[in-house]
Amino acid sequence: MVAVRVEALTKVFEPGVVALDDVTLEVASGEFLVLLGEGGSGKTTLLRLLGGLETPTTGSIEVGGVPLADLPDREAVIAVVFQSYSVYQHLTVAQNIGFPLRGAHSDVGERVAEAARHLGIADLLGRLPAHLSRGQRQRVAMARAIVRRPAILLLDEPLSNVDPRIWAELRGDIVALTKRLGITTIYVTHDRDEAVDMADRIVVLDHGKLVWKGFSPFTGLDTYG
Ligand SMILES: Nc1ncnc2c1ncn2[C@@H]1O[C@H](COP(=O)(O)OP(=O)(O)OP(=O)(O)O)[C@@H](O)[C@H]1O
Ligand SMILES: [Mg+2]
Repeated sequence: MVAVRVEALTKVFEPGVVALDDVTLEVASGEFLVLLGEGGSGKTTLLRLLGGLETPTTGSIEVGGVPLADLPDREAVIAVVFQSYSVYQHLTVAQNIGFPLRGAHSDVGERVAEAARHLGIADLLGRLPAHLSRGQRQRVAMARAIVRRPAILLLDEPLSNVDPRIWAELRGDIVALTKRLGITTIYVTHDRDEAVDMADRIVVLDHGKLVWKGFSPFTGLDTYG
């Protein structure tokens, strides 16, 4: 089943700045897709369009067969974690994770505990972010993203601020988690090894164009990495 369908998507920010150029793409339900490309290739732009945070100049996005703009509760279906994502410093880990629920659910405590368990931070729920490592903070951000049980998770270089020693571990945990929960994931990176390590399938962007997609990233990809 197709979870996300992107058709001829173009984003022009200002005359001459074509951030995304006629990109067509399908993401299967449950797939872990990696968007790979150098700085300025349009990765974040595509992710922000998918998250409904930017409006396309032309082209369309469908989620589960429904135009993105027509989704009744977009934020519940699609969760986003950015590189620069910061947790609220004055809130505990539990309050941070539960924030997106905004009291709308009767089982907030249960959902927060479940999300924390999935990220291996169940023993940190009472702590403030200042007393966490960067890796732990990124786990809080991830737990906060999955607490509404999204169908689609968009991750923009979530590991680039994390200590390399715990990077590999967190990588594996993110893939395992999204597979376990059946979440369709689109993961942005400029790191070829990370892409190869994590992806079911890789899409390469270059100057806003989709220049390559497939399962075997070792051929024809010499300029990336
Ligand atoms: N809000 C904006 N206004 C104008 N230009 C923008 C805006 N956002 C992005 N761009 C431009 O669009 C192009 C693609 O940017 P984007 O941030 O999508 O690239 P990226 O692949 O995520 O890069 P990086 O790896 O550095 O994060 C760049 O030329 C960038 O300068
Ligand atoms: Mg970016």
